[in-house]
Amino acid sequence: MNFYRDTFAQIDLTQFEENIKRIKNVNGKQMIAVIKANAYGHGASYIARKVMELGAVMLAVSSLDEAITLRHDGIDAPILCVGYTRPRDVSLAMFYDITLTVPSLEWCNELEKIKPEGKLKVHLAYDTGMNRIGMKTIDELKECITTLHGKYVCIDGIFTHYTMSDADDEIMTNDQYRKFKEVVVELQNLCNFTYIHASNSDATMHYKEDITNAVRIGLVMFGISSFDTEVKPILSLYTRLSRVKKVNKGEGIGYSQTYTMSEDGYIGTIPIGYADGWIRKNQDRSCYIGKEACRFVGRICMDQAMILLDKEYPVDTPVELIGPHVSLVEMAKELDTIPYEIMCLLTDRVPRVYLENGEVVAIDNPRMRYSEAK
Ligand SMILES: Cc1ncc(COP(=O)(O)O)c(C=O)c1O
Repeated sequence: MNFYRDTFAQIDLTQFEENIKRIKNVNGKQMIAVIKANAYGHGASYIARKVMELGAVMLAVSSLDEAITLRHDGIDAPILCVGYTRPRDVSLAMFYDITLTVPSLEWCNELEKIKPEGKLKVHLAYDTGMNRIGMKTIDELKECITTLHGKYVCIDGIFTHYTMSDADDEIMTNDQYRKFKEVVVELQNLCNFTYIHASNSDATMHYKEDITNAVRIGLVMFGISSFDTEVKPILSLYTRLSRVKKVNKGEGIGYSQTYTMSEDGYIGTIPIGYADGWIRKNQDRSCYIGKEACRFVGRICMDQAMILLDKEYPVDTPVELIGPHVSLVEMAKELDTIPYEIMCLLTDRVPRVYLENGEVVAIDNPRMRYSEAK
């Protein structure tokens, strides 16, 4: 197994399948798999193939270029772009058969000027409280339908996005859902929507809707949920010691010498840094060698970091950064962020290794694709 770096993210596709089974058991609606931001760091093309195999009806990404990358990787599944696409790029979306989101009435009017050739598939975004993209009134939605539908546009779906589906009380979600339902009921007289969707992961696992026929799931597929304890994370992050040295009491470690050895000891160096997504705020947190917690001491560098060892370990000793001893949820709390951000931060310098039933089934190191192909 050669992927040219000791630092790698391991993605457990068997657990991914278990998570999808669990989601289907809890909520049997059609699954639109949200794989934007490189499938939250898990590798968009690999996750796309797997999730379509497991019964998703559609993939969702945030931008046209994310969608086109999937097409170039040979993914021919339906793809919805849930973010903003510039009206002047719609012909590209049509060429690659990407469904776009209608973010505003102004966008419709721009399209009316462009009059693209062929049929563009769209989902209408209805803003019920997020105040991000989407139309805010039924009149805007109606005008959009009468302007566009049937000409060069096929309105295939309508959706909204919840702002507080992770909250224990459902006050905001109820309010958003009520608004969404009212509008969908009325618009159904004008337009036959194939897909009606609102729930993200947390809503999918605990909130009941009767008007929708699909869910838009991201995080829960990757094993993190505010409401379900049966899904399990599928991503771990490992590296190996690249250097071990004895350091004397009083010596400083790393840039700006922010840590001083309080006694003689051993410092391990590992090949991961903020350019891999291992941000500087990880200083003072711990990684693990076996069951032993080892603290990051000194500044995290761009490509390397130093950890305090309890004894002298050999170079090449495996180090766990995220995994059985370091959960993404705990790590997010320690870094005062959310698991989404930690996953998305992992850059393409970090090779992804895919496992099925404990066996490596694929390795992706984008930087080495050229030489692997030769
Ligand atoms: C429009 C939209 N739908 C669905 C999702 C999926 O959310 P989650 O990962 O919480 O399921 C996102 C994620 O940010 C989103 O922006």
